[in-house]
Amino acid sequence: MKFFVDTADTAEITALAASGLLDGVTTNPSLIAKSGRKILDVIAEICAIVPGPVSAEVAATEYDGMIREANVLRAIAKNVTVKLPLTPDGLRACRTLADQGTMTNVTLCFSAAQALLAAKAGATFVSPFVGRLDDIGQNGMDLIADILQIFDNYDALKTEVLVASVRHPIHVIEAAKLGAHVATLPPAVLRSLYSHPLTDKGLASFLADWAKTGQSIT
Ligand code: E4P
Repeated sequence: MKFFVDTADTAEITALAASGLLDGVTTNPSLIAKSGRKILDVIAEICAIVPGPVSAEVAATEYDGMIREANVLRAIAKNVTVKLPLTPDGLRACRTLADQGTMTNVTLCFSAAQALLAAKAGATFVSPFVGRLDDIGQNGMDLIADILQIFDNYDALKTEVLVASVRHPIHVIEAAKLGAHVATLPPAVLRSLYSHPLTDKGLASFLADWAKTGQSIT
């Protein structure tokens, strides 16, 4: 399973990239707004930190505007993935960009039917939002299972399922058990995956015993 981080905070991205566990980055207009920076500057900086796919979302809502914005975004770096909303215009733009060899991420997916459309439009990634479905009393992970089952039925569908709106480690584990290709994680969720109290307790005990030996490895 690939791990992307869902943030436009370049300090966070730099720190997490050092782990060697980061396969890509996703941003959205809200995350860019939170960064307080200009989108072109932030995306360029992220692309220089992380060699994997970096999603940059268009703000236009009609086809021509989306393509104009996509041309600007994809000129930033080879690893820019143009993020498009799951709308008729977004999927039309997805098909155009996919045919031109540009990576795409179709976002705001809330149904299996929508995911199937994104795959038929040639999306590199489709982003079902599990947390936002959970928020309204639906099981977001059921959607991931449905999409993976559908995609598995057709060799021609190459779109990767990018689990988005992840809120906690259980989302990550459940998505991995289902075989989702990618999860995009807020930095805090990614960091929380390391934690287990028995790891901390065990390490403290080993170090205490080691200190008693008076030895040094180097
Ligand atoms: C995905 O690409 C989105 O940016 C993100 O996962 C949305 O998460 P949220 O529902 O926590 O805003």
